[in-house]
Formats: sequence, structure tokens, C-alpha cells
Amino acid sequence: MFVISIAALKRNTRILREVKEAAGCRLVLALKGFACWKAFSYLRDDLDGCCASGLWEARLARDHFQKQVVTYAPAYDEADIAELCAFTHHLDFNSWSQWLRFRGQVMAHPRFLGGALHCGLRINPECSTGATPLYDPCAPGSRLGVTADQLAGADLTGLSGLHFHTLCEQNADDLATTLAAVEKKFGHLLDLPQFTYLNMGGGHWITQPDYDRERLVRLVREIQEKYRVEVWLEPGEAIAIHTGVLRASVMDVFESAGHRHAILNVSASAHTPDVLEMPYRPDVFLVDSAPPSGTRLPAVVFPGEIYHLAANPQSPIPNPQSPIPNPQSPIPTRLGGPTCLAGDVFGDFSFPRELRVGDTLVLDDMAHYTMVKTTTFNGVKHPPIALQHEDGRLEILRDFTYEDFRDRLA
Ligand SMILES: Cc1ncc(COP(=O)(O)O)c(C=O)c1O
Repeated sequence: MFVISIAALKRNTRILREVKEAAGCRLVLALKGFACWKAFSYLRDDLDGCCASGLWEARLARDHFQKQVVTYAPAYDEADIAELCAFTHHLDFNSWSQWLRFRGQVMAHPRFLGGALHCGLRINPECSTGATPLYDPCAPGSRLGVTADQLAGADLTGLSGLHFHTLCEQNADDLATTLAAVEKKFGHLLDLPQFTYLNMGGGHWITQPDYDRERLVRLVREIQEKYRVEVWLEPGEAIAIHTGVLRASVMDVFESAGHRHAILNVSASAHTPDVLEMPYRPDVFLVDSAPPSGTRLPAVVFPGEIYHLAANPQSPIPNPQSPIPNPQSPIPTRLGGPTCLAGDVFGDFSFPRELRVGDTLVLDDMAHYTMVKTTTFNGVKHPPIALQHEDGRLEILRDFTYEDFRDRLA
């Protein structure tokens, strides 16, 4: 079961609200990272709205968040544009060719003419600061955003915003580096009075304890004052980090050629795909009655439960055929999912005792980029989704059925 803590969400959005108020900028939730709309009512007061990655997320923002909608997609079609023009507040384009194709349609729309709809262009400052190539939109030949040379001599009529997104789980020092590149390559555009907003994308790890919030505030203020633009930030992860867990149960335990395996009722491939893609290794806790082995707790705790953090897993995700490492640890166990994918593996974890069928494990930090990416691959049961309210009450928002699996396929 996915369980999201309202108290933890509010702790994050309070921090984000303080930052945006200190910086005097706007801050919206990136739905691609967290889109559990039944929790929106707890976020709404602190945030300005949502950032949508296309028409469907934009509709969700309009219908359930009911504040500002800022939309950027790598490509739109005519039907997307027709519908988005009716309600989105920003419509940002990824390429010059998309803007050329749709600018007539957009600029003729009454909301554009009336000043309710603003258009922007995603720029690529060609400044890589991140560690993971999969998340680097500035890599040479990137398909994301327009480079400065592509804009030389272009007729910019109709555009009022620039948008960049180059960070992933990064601190304000990398934003400073990126802003220097943006100013160097696109400062002459920001100087033009027609440009009224600068969207600095997501990837700002603002709610992490070591994030330099004061520096972010200074950077945003400087840019706003220098170019007279309104800055928008659109974090996803910072809103939902440390707010949710995935609770799993052990369905089987066995040994095979020296490997101790536990099969869980949740799947790395179907329910936590970033474990394989990013790769991201969650902390795993065993729920037990014996005294805990440490003081770390998962993001969501239940009264009466005791949590044992499993010993640090290895990275990267092991090859399913490789021997299980970490011979020092008491009981190294390879946690796998219930699908037929050989690599449906969360990793090798060491527990203070042997796992048993029926044990509960808690996979930490599973609210962001997890629930939005789940599938019903192999027909595995989708975990229910629940909220833990501030008074501790558990509310099941959704329990999935066989019909949900069936109906998505035709
Ligand atoms: C354009 C854009 N904005 C915002 C975000 C949110 O980023 P994060 O969740 O890392 O803050 C992303 C993530 O990929 C993105 O592509």
C-alpha cells in the first residue's frame, strides 16, 4: 500500500511557501512528480498552482488544484493547443518549429489577446551540472529546449516567457552556475521588455536539510530585479520528498544457488520503476516487534510498530545472476517483485533476522515519481493508495481491482 503523510506534505509546502515569499516569486507543483489529486487540498494554500507536462496533467490541475496552470510539453498537437488555450495560464513551447506552427492559432485566441494566456519558449543553456545523464537536458544534441544559436535573428513576437529546466536533485550552487549560462546566452532576450517571466523549472531540492535556501532567494531576487521578470519555480520532488512509503508484504522466502530471495507483493518494475531506471535505491525497513536496530524512521510510521532499517544496500542494482554481496551482514536477502522480469529486483538488503512469509517491509520515500509511474505489468495487483491524516487516521483513497487492470487494456 502507498501511504502518504499529510503532515509531511504540509511540512514541505510550508518550507516552499516561506521560500517563495522571501524570494517574491511563484512556485507551482510539478504534477509529473506527484499527482495524487486527493491530497491537493492540503497543498493548495501554500502553492501557486501546478506545472503540467501536457494536456491531461493540465486538466487535472484545472479541475482539482484550481489555481495557476503552467504547461510545457516537448510537443503539442492541434487538439492539445485548442483545448489548452482555453484555460492554461502559461503555454511554453519546446522548439522553434512548434512555436512557428502554433503561434498563429495561439495569438488569435481571445485569452491571449486579453492577456490571460502567455507563451514562452524552453531554452537550453547548454550547461550540464547534474550527475545522471538520463536527467541531463543540456547534453549535446538534446531534444529539450532551443539553443541560443537557433534564435539568432528570430522574430520573437508573441513570446513573453523563457523557461529552462536543467537540474535534478540539485542545490542552489548549480542553479547559480546555470543562471550564469542563461544570462550569458539569453540575457539579451531577458533585457527586452516583452519578456515578463522566467521559469526556472524543477530539480531544486529546496526541502532537503542541506539545501541553501538563502542563496536561492538571493538568486531569484537578483534576476527579478535585474530583468524585471517574474520568476517561476516548478519543483516536483521537493514537494513530495520524505512524505510517503510503500508498504509491502513478503510472499515467499527461499534459497537458490546460495542466494536468499524474498518475493514481495510489490514490484520494482511495475510499482517503483525508478528503482530500475534512475537507479534509485530505497531505504527498506522491516516492521518487527523486537527492539529497533537504529533510530532512523520511515516517512510514515504507524503507532505500535517498530522499524529496523535494513543494512545499506549495494549499488547499482545487482545482476540477478550475480552472487549476493555483503557476507558480513546477518541475513543478506535479495528483494524481488512478483513479475516474471528477471531483473524485477529492489536490491540486496540485510535484516537483523531471517525474513518470513507475511513480514511487512516499508520501502521509504515512495511518494514522488513512483505513484505517477506505476503500471499493471504482468497483471500484478496495484497497491492501494492511502492518506495518513494528521491525527493518525488512515484513509484508503483507492483500492484497485481486476477490472482496473482489464479496462485499461481495451
Ligand atoms: C520541465 C520540468 N519541470 C519541472 C520538473 C520537476 O522536477 P523535480 O521533480 O526534479 O523538481 C521536471 C522534471 O523532470 C521537468 O522536466
